[in-house]
Amino acid sequence: MINLICLEQVDSTNTYAKALLKSGEPLCPYTVIYAKEQTAGRGRLGREWHSKEGQSLCMSLIVPYHHKPGITLLCALGVHKALEKICGETHREKLRIKWPNDIIAGSKKLCGILVEGTEKASIIGIGINLNSIDFPQDIAHKATSLKLMTGKDSEPLEIAKAVAEEVFSITDMNQGNLTEDAIKKYSPLCANISREVHFGGKKGIAVGIAEDGSLAVMTDGSLEKVSFGEVTVSGIY
Ligand code: BTN
Repeated sequence: MINLICLEQVDSTNTYAKALLKSGEPLCPYTVIYAKEQTAGRGRLGREWHSKEGQSLCMSLIVPYHHKPGITLLCALGVHKALEKICGETHREKLRIKWPNDIIAGSKKLCGILVEGTEKASIIGIGINLNSIDFPQDIAHKATSLKLMTGKDSEPLEIAKAVAEEVFSITDMNQGNLTEDAIKKYSPLCANISREVHFGGKKGIAVGIAEDGSLAVMTDGSLEKVSFGEVTVSGIY
């Protein structure tokens, strides 16, 4: 049973979730904060996240396990699975994961995930472009939406429930850990693998996912593990 908190407007569902956890108020294990409109959405690496009411899905899930960084990849797997079901057979092949947790369709970004850890839980903030047919100029070349992919409109709350179910299911199944089995499922979906990637002023070929969820990259004969920061992939936004 999901405990769904629906808000008309909020600065950021992740910030709201953080305050809720801090307040000490007892929470149901499957709590979702869903907002129709977000006014100060936050992205990874300190970036802003823009969304428009009715065109995007903004929600945060509170996953009640001691936070470990690998959960980021586990959640990406859950969101990917939900989107595959939503897209159906005709479009599901286009969906991949860009390490660590962007969901892409073709070479453009469809969904971003911001994971924040607290002592008690992980907050999984999920933003999906649903019904947008155009984007602000600075992201127009790299963003896409479910509508642009499938031609169909989506109802944000319905998508929220479907995605939350898959994410809670996969995190429960793995007790919040990035298991060997999860890595086996993640790896073939990862758009970085076998491609040239750039990170921290270096470049190499991504060769796999390490046990802790970092990206293994072969650079000039040595293997490096990239665990945070921006990794760009040739041919993808
Ligand atoms: C990224 O790709 O940089 C991550 C974007 C995450 C956006 C979502 S929208 C719901 C939740 N609340 C936020 O402030 N951010 C996340």
